[in-house]
Amino acid sequence: MKKSLRSEFVHDGIKNLHYEIREIVDYGHALQKLGVEISWENIGDPVAAGEEVEPWIKEIVMNLMKEDATWAYCPSRGILKTREFLADIVSNRPNSVKVGPNDILFFNGIADAVDKIYDLIKKDDRVMMPSPSYPTHTSNEGKRGDYSYLQFKLDPVNNWQPDLEEIENMVKYNPQVVAISIVNPDNPTGAVYTRKTLDGIVDIARRYGIFIICDEIYAHICYNGAETLHLSQILGEVPGLALRGISKDVPWPGARCGWVEMLNSNSSTQFREYCDGLIKSKMMEVCSTTLPQLAIPEIYGDPRYMDLKERRAKMFERRSNQVYEYFKENVPGTIVRPTQGAFYFSVAFEDGVLNDKQTLPIKDSNIREFVEQSVRGVQLDKRFVHYMMASEGVCVTPLTGFHTDIQGFRLTTLDPDDDRRTRVLERIGNSIKRYIGA
Ligand SMILES: Cc1ncc(COP(=O)(O)O)c(C=O)c1O
Repeated sequence: MKKSLRSEFVHDGIKNLHYEIREIVDYGHALQKLGVEISWENIGDPVAAGEEVEPWIKEIVMNLMKEDATWAYCPSRGILKTREFLADIVSNRPNSVKVGPNDILFFNGIADAVDKIYDLIKKDDRVMMPSPSYPTHTSNEGKRGDYSYLQFKLDPVNNWQPDLEEIENMVKYNPQVVAISIVNPDNPTGAVYTRKTLDGIVDIARRYGIFIICDEIYAHICYNGAETLHLSQILGEVPGLALRGISKDVPWPGARCGWVEMLNSNSSTQFREYCDGLIKSKMMEVCSTTLPQLAIPEIYGDPRYMDLKERRAKMFERRSNQVYEYFKENVPGTIVRPTQGAFYFSVAFEDGVLNDKQTLPIKDSNIREFVEQSVRGVQLDKRFVHYMMASEGVCVTPLTGFHTDIQGFRLTTLDPDDDRRTRVLERIGNSIKRYIGA
């Protein structure tokens, strides 16, 4: 293609936009065209994976659709009644920071909020985050400048918890750090931060004058004894943003609806200015989606919601424990830990287990050639995933797609069919054993 425009105007940061969870889908589609049937274990959409939406939730939405107001724009910050409802929930949590409706700001999903949250921080200032990390956060951080990421390790051997000393040293020796960002419960590891770790992170933020971003989209999916601790309950006087949404817990990802709790928004002039910037940037877009905002008080306020939340948490607990037991008992060369939240499970490979000579049998020569081309120069975990997809037809996400050098992969526990899930596990386990020659 020729260069017919007069300048190289494209933003340098574009090269840092990566979303392996969906990028791997292109590879899967190419395999499908070559005749491979794929089981998709990569995308975190409970509805697409087959979970049925509760009839009473559908009814709430259908009744709202009958009102003309549902079809209108809503206020830029979000519908007042809904913001009041959510502000009350936050303020009534034990030990919580108190907020009012103007501290709640609606977005078209958390992904939209994340985009603006990082965008409004000066180019040379940095947000620290874990490794591995959810790519929407890392990509938005990466887009702002050509700096290397500042990431602290979530250690698979230590239940995917971070080391507070590493976090503190990173903050201390990098004065350009203005915030620490975490996902709790976490994607991709399924770990839930312990109270001690959270208190430690808040303490560091307090002592160094930085703020905290906490993506809590999975806050309603906690199990295996995990305490559901919200940022608002541990923050004290430290400023922070808690990111919430309905994509995973109603579940209604297609609603594109999420909101930010701006906590201690008046605790400093800088944080106030930043929160005002977030509000203004939403005004530039007029408003966020109206229908889901109208539905939120009716869904979360319905006594049936508590039952749904508990049922789903138990369901994901059972499935996750099944994955853990399977890998622990059957698959050498891997590190697994029981998860406590969300519907993901990360399997890490032990150091030195993978190399660039390993393969899996692929009968069809066209498919084999396609795979051999696709794995040239890629990370070792991605190489394994590409071979497994071609050989076994199972699509998972390589862990290095979550901006980490920990080799492994993430699968979801979303398939509602127990037998099919069990078979997929066996196909993954057998692929690993053959691939590493165990
Ligand atoms: C940690 C995390 N944050 C945000 C999102 C996206 O949320 P939303 O649908 O509200 O944009 C996801 C989706 O998988 C996620 O895993």
